[in-house]
Amino acid sequence: MSIRTPLCDLFGIEHPVLLAPMAGVSGGALAAVVSRAGGLGLIGGGYGDADWLEREFDAAGDARIGVGFITWSLARQSHLLDLVLDRAPAALMLSFGDFKPFLPKIRDGQAKFIVQVQTLDQAREAVDAGVDAIVAQGTEAGGHGGTRATLPFVPAVVDIAKEIPVIAAGGIADGRGLAAALALGASGVLCGTAFFSSNESLANDNAKQAAVSGSGHDTERSSIFDIARGLDWPTGWNLRAMRNAFTRRWSADMDGLMQNLSEEQARFEAASAAGDTDVAAVIVGEAADLIRAIEPAQDTLHGMISQAEDRLWRIGRLADPIEED
Ligand SMILES: Cc1cc2nc3c(=O)[nH]c(=O)nc-3n(C[C@H](O)[C@H](O)[C@H](O)COP(=O)(O)O)c2cc1C
Repeated sequence: MSIRTPLCDLFGIEHPVLLAPMAGVSGGALAAVVSRAGGLGLIGGGYGDADWLEREFDAAGDARIGVGFITWSLARQSHLLDLVLDRAPAALMLSFGDFKPFLPKIRDGQAKFIVQVQTLDQAREAVDAGVDAIVAQGTEAGGHGGTRATLPFVPAVVDIAKEIPVIAAGGIADGRGLAAALALGASGVLCGTAFFSSNESLANDNAKQAAVSGSGHDTERSSIFDIARGLDWPTGWNLRAMRNAFTRRWSADMDGLMQNLSEEQARFEAASAAGDTDVAAVIVGEAADLIRAIEPAQDTLHGMISQAEDRLWRIGRLADPIEED
């Protein structure tokens, strides 16, 4: 049995699984491994850095990969869109902000256009714009996101998207999650947390280990790490990451954080460079419960596929007519 969906045809891939474009984590090597294993790897263009993007596209070699950007940040340096379109990515994904100004340029290229949404209004906007695929992201997700839970949000977006393939994201890190997403009407999944601790991820080794030892229960959404990183995120999204000494110190005292901002930002920056996870952000979602080893991304992907095949086969058996003796 193999799992083929319209998403496989859209992207020309074997398995309906996308690597999320995790800023600073999904580099060229990780994206390439996921693509070569039959999924589609997206480089995390994040807040945009031309040298970093060139390097990571080079690192992907001849693998067929895509790239994602944080839309409001791309709007401040839109030349980066030309840079990546010159690399002829298989897909371009935009999240968090108004994607419409970028549409004409994206339409001129060959990349399939994916938009990640957190509300039904955003989903309607993506449908009206005629995007190629919509990622419906639930609040369980690691990284930035909104408030809706994946389980009811995905089918609601499927109803709006009609024939446009919907990709479920947020809390999906194994074959059970993939099977569930397909049952909700999604055409595939986009996973970040599942690949955060892979060998090929650019995350700090201590952060990978903290994610493996941690649980979804240890994560929360807040703006503390954005303040510490000096990122002026628009309202409507905040960051899910693991709680640590830094968030415990400041979560009930945002005014105090603002008053000590320059020292705390310097402390945060030094901790991030040193891999001190008591202060630095370990950005994973509720699916941290399901991440149990630092392993090759190919093993994660293939494990997810074979578990989903097994689950779907078992579910199919439930629908078989009861055999008479
Ligand atoms: C470490 C990390 C960084 C992320 N960075 C980005 C980003 O730069 N752009 C983006 O669109 N989404 C980003 N995300 C969110 C993902 O696109 C995706 O929605 C999320 O990982 C799905 O949920 P999951 O983490 O439970 O798999 C990030 C997620 C993680 C875990």
